Amino acid sequence: MRFYVITSSDSGFRGEREDLSGPLIRTLCEAQGYVWAGYSLLPDDRAMLAEEMCRICDEGLADLILTTGGTGFSPRDVMPEATLDVTERAVPGIPEALRLNSLKYTDRAMLSRAAAGIRGRTLIVNLPGSPKAVRENLTYLFGPLRHGLEILTDKAHDCARS
Ligand code: MTE
Repeated sequence: MRFYVITSSDSGFRGEREDLSGPLIRTLCEAQGYVWAGYSLLPDDRAMLAEEMCRICDEGLADLILTTGGTGFSPRDVMPEATLDVTERAVPGIPEALRLNSLKYTDRAMLSRAAAGIRGRTLIVNLPGSPKAVRENLTYLFGPLRHGLEILTDKAHDCARS
């Protein structure tokens, strides 16, 4: 399974802040056997984020896009909107489950507006911006994620558990 990472951060894009979350996603996913397909650090710009997600999906570059940042309440936080702009099928269960699980760690998890959806054969999942939140969310997501991606990419055909 190939994964692509997109970080949404104005200050990261301007070079004023090091992006720690994007590289952390890479490390955590590679430890699970996922194959790194690329990384983009973009400003909090809805059109630019949407365009990049379209490019990755439509050129068949990755089975999974994990995004970090831009899911909060700042007026510049538009990652969920960009994701919903480009996805053809919504996957509400993933952000619902991530928020529910994240409430174990912080009641601020309810402030995450993260979305998820499918464009073509690529799943896009929004994660919050902090490395702490990335780790907490991905650890919980990995199990069911693999099964979902196997179905999406035709590597598995039913949901029976052995
Ligand atoms: N989820 C987990 N698991 N751990 C966290 O620390 N932080 C929350 C939330 N989700 C958090 C979390 C906070 S403080 C915010 S504001 C939202 O994610 C949105 O984060 P973002 O704006 O960095 O995307």
